[in-house]
Amino acid sequence: MCGIIGYTGSNCVKDILLDALSLLEYRGYDSAGIAVNEEEKKKTEIFKCAGRVSDLKAICDTKQITATCGIGHTRWATHGGVNDGNAHPHQQGKVTLVHNGIIENYRELIADYDLQDVLRSETDSEVVAALLNHFYQGNPGEAIRKTVSKLKGTFAFVILFEDQPGVIYSIRNVSPIVATICKEGAMLASDLTALCRFTNEYFVVPEYHILELHKDCILLTDLQGQKVEPQMLSVDWELNSAGKNGYPFYMEKEMMEQPDAIRRTIEGRIMNGLPDFTGDGVPDELFTNCERICVVACGTAMHAGLVAQALVKSMVHVPMEVELASEFMYSDPVIDEKTLVIAVSQSGETIDTLEALRYAKRQGAKCLSIINVKGSSIARESDYVLYTSAGPEIAVASTKAYTTQLSVFHLVVAKMAMLRGAYTEKQAKAFVQELQRVPEVLETILEQRKDIHVIAKKILEAKDLFMIGRGLDYSILLEGSLKLKEVSYIHSEAYASGELKHGPIALITRNTPVVAAVTQEKIMSKELSNIKEVKSRGADIVLFIKKALAGDLHQEYQLIELPDMQDVFMVFPTSVALQLLAYYVSSDKGFDVDKPRNLAKVVTVE
Ligand code: M6R
Repeated sequence: MCGIIGYTGSNCVKDILLDALSLLEYRGYDSAGIAVNEEEKKKTEIFKCAGRVSDLKAICDTKQITATCGIGHTRWATHGGVNDGNAHPHQQGKVTLVHNGIIENYRELIADYDLQDVLRSETDSEVVAALLNHFYQGNPGEAIRKTVSKLKGTFAFVILFEDQPGVIYSIRNVSPIVATICKEGAMLASDLTALCRFTNEYFVVPEYHILELHKDCILLTDLQGQKVEPQMLSVDWELNSAGKNGYPFYMEKEMMEQPDAIRRTIEGRIMNGLPDFTGDGVPDELFTNCERICVVACGTAMHAGLVAQALVKSMVHVPMEVELASEFMYSDPVIDEKTLVIAVSQSGETIDTLEALRYAKRQGAKCLSIINVKGSSIARESDYVLYTSAGPEIAVASTKAYTTQLSVFHLVVAKMAMLRGAYTEKQAKAFVQELQRVPEVLETILEQRKDIHVIAKKILEAKDLFMIGRGLDYSILLEGSLKLKEVSYIHSEAYASGELKHGPIALITRNTPVVAAVTQEKIMSKELSNIKEVKSRGADIVLFIKKALAGDLHQEYQLIELPDMQDVFMVFPTSVALQLLAYYVSSDKGFDVDKPRNLAKVVTVE
């Protein structure tokens, strides 16, 4: 959470910082600010405000800013309300900094160093600026070392010292920082989105290392002062794939990209019609030696795990749990060297998932991760990684990351089923063949989006909405319901249809909107009975139904017919249809679809 950028070079820093902050705004959009190092004036000037980057831009446009070195921040508030004073950067004496993370012992630091009277904000971050200033005697490295030795928590700090013009310092623990040097100068950011318009080469700043950006060089040292060579990585994202490409919102663009994203993700992992992870360096033994599987993930990524769990149970017959990463290590889970832990994350930076992975590794488990962002923390710390090739996902609501995660899971499940003798080679080939149809099927459902828009218009005014389904449909509706609530602010709950009569059906009154998914033939008749039960209580029902199962149901219900696939693949068209529903409700209500209130794309606080 929180977007960070720093630049020092020969170009005017203002535009570089503001452009980068616009790209990073999905990490937090409560307030924005920049600090520029005016070498001639020998001072660091700050411009900041509560609100969006566009508000900050309006302020900066009225100022004459010629500096070529500066830092910037977009905030997702943790400590202290959303107001100008709590916006970053924070300045104390000669020190100006921006921060991503949480300093857990900030109260003790205020008391121990008697900082109460100098603080002007309610943030934990300003306490660190004051502490750095306390230790600063003209040697930035020494002040940074002394300061971080006192801190408990997670942090990525980017710091300017007023008497070190043109130089940016940074240090981090857990919270990410990537950096690069290119012809424009040296720069760092909380994530690659802000850098890839300048270069494809970058490195991840190691934890507890001091980074110095100079106009023409980068210096990385460990806490003992030893020089460390940065490990350069390259990214294949292009600038235009991080833009909106003519769509009004990133969410729409990203939904439309799903067919290609899935094609890219599965191609190269299919050899002679069978799943193959040789190119990823994932050995078959990973799938044969484990006695149980445990998925750790949050939000949408966790929902992808639920689909995989249903597949593994029915196709591979191996015990599998899906754990909310934030609850995982506090619940004393049974994890050992016979457990395969699969961490799923778009960003690869979700701290709950990262901590769950670290816990699992300490217990001796083998860890595989399914990640979208190359070189991210979870990817780096996993034993094996299967990258999704979704490209940059900017909208807070996850869409293409989810369906690409599902496609990887389908390959993993087919591989396991074959390796463990639950599937013959012929069955595995047929399964993979159906998976290869997914992109074209999604193209069909995306072409049908106008029909879903019509349904969306009918629920614009709803306060509550329910989604019901059984088996895989229920797993998909959990995700569909999360999507709807996060972008439309309609209270939406997904229920396993059979559970309704045990309580939730009490919530159904006349005209309550209910979205029902019917894509699984073997449980269809039971599902239809449950739908009847809510219809009898006056609910206003829309069926998202597999075309082949629709029969004459249109006489009784409003239907969205989904293109036919084998049942275990119906998760793909159903989830895309539900994404479209959420999107149209949000955009028709006039909301900022890509930046729903209170949320951020990358969740790096526990
Ligand atoms: O980056 P991650 O996949 O680890 O993020 C996990 C969740 O924060 C994320 O999926 C969140 O639930 C999305 N906003 C849902 O659309």
